[in-house]
Amino acid sequence: MKLLHVVGARPNFPKLAPVHRAAVQAGLVQTVVHTGQHYDDAMSGAFFRDLGIPQPDVDLGVGSASHAVQTARIIERIEPVLERERPDWVVVYGDVNSTMAAAIVAVKLGLRVAHVEAGLRSRDWSMPEEINRIVTDRLASLLLTPSRDADATLRAEGEPESEIVFVGNVMIDSLLHALPMARASGFRAKLGVDGKAVVVTLHRPSNVDEPRRLAGIADALRDLARDYAVVFPAHPRTQQRLRDAGIDMGAVKLMEPVAYAEMLDLVQGAHVVVTDSGGLQEETTALGVPCLTVRENTERPITITEGTNQLVPDPAALAAAVRSVRRTPAPPRPEGWDGKAGERVAHALAAR
Ligand code: UD1
Repeated sequence: MKLLHVVGARPNFPKLAPVHRAAVQAGLVQTVVHTGQHYDDAMSGAFFRDLGIPQPDVDLGVGSASHAVQTARIIERIEPVLERERPDWVVVYGDVNSTMAAAIVAVKLGLRVAHVEAGLRSRDWSMPEEINRIVTDRLASLLLTPSRDADATLRAEGEPESEIVFVGNVMIDSLLHALPMARASGFRAKLGVDGKAVVVTLHRPSNVDEPRRLAGIADALRDLARDYAVVFPAHPRTQQRLRDAGIDMGAVKLMEPVAYAEMLDLVQGAHVVVTDSGGLQEETTALGVPCLTVRENTERPITITEGTNQLVPDPAALAAAVRSVRRTPAPPRPEGWDGKAGERVAHALAAR
């Protein structure tokens, strides 16, 4: 059996790694296509190295552009690759433009699509990722879900039971695999931050593209920097928006995006994580670290009901919310967040 994996953006890579590893074990033939949606070493190459994923077999080199142009480039450039390779499964990950674009081309060529991380919904159609999730799930014929709420969502949307397979969370496979490397990195010590660090990531258009909202969040972070080490590895988009808006982060430790293991070291030792990332909502739940999500909604409700996540949509409430966080014992990890999800994905693919 031959798998063709399509990845493109930073959050795809920790999802690919455990599936690729398990498929090697299962003796499946594999091709990795990188769309080039993310291309900076810090956003892409460093992740392949840290996660032990072999270099991509094909790089489509699409780069940054508007959603339409980026999606169109992927569609155009991936078609000949899929025609040539004709895999048994095209495996797509998460909710980025690369995910949806690859799924559209694959089904039109009569190829079967498997979606890893199917069934998540924010119910917020203004999020580009929500459109990517819905379109991809509609097209895929194997819906590999990270949590039981996702199964229920897909059933309610009329997806056939035979296509829905609960596998658990592949992101947590990568986390558990990389924790020793994260501890060994000594990254927190190098930065000189202690257990009271507030670790921040922000990149959603809804937070960073609106200068007034971004300024409100920056106010809260500067306020917190009086009492805590506030560490903010910033996505290139966010850095650009901060520059454009002329926002000074004061005592906040603003830095370039950090590598996977370094980020895990920061997160596992954090007092609290402030984020709008989907992956970090999950990683903090798995590690028992409090997480404040600066959004109105989440497509990962299990991180609230069974984890450490809390929505704080109003930037004016953020500083007080951080100050009121009290550490509690880590809750048990959600079902299937056990480090074996990649094996279950490989098994589900090989069995069909
Ligand atoms: C994309 C995903 C988002 C995911 C995020 C993680 C979509 C719709 N969005 O958003 O779901 O959470 O990745 O990072 O697919 N840039 C660089 N170097 C890079 C990549 C991007 O400098 O390697 C800059 C460019 O200025 C670019 C901007 O970041 O215009 C945004 O990149 P883009 O891929 O369009 O979206 P992300 O915000 O990264």
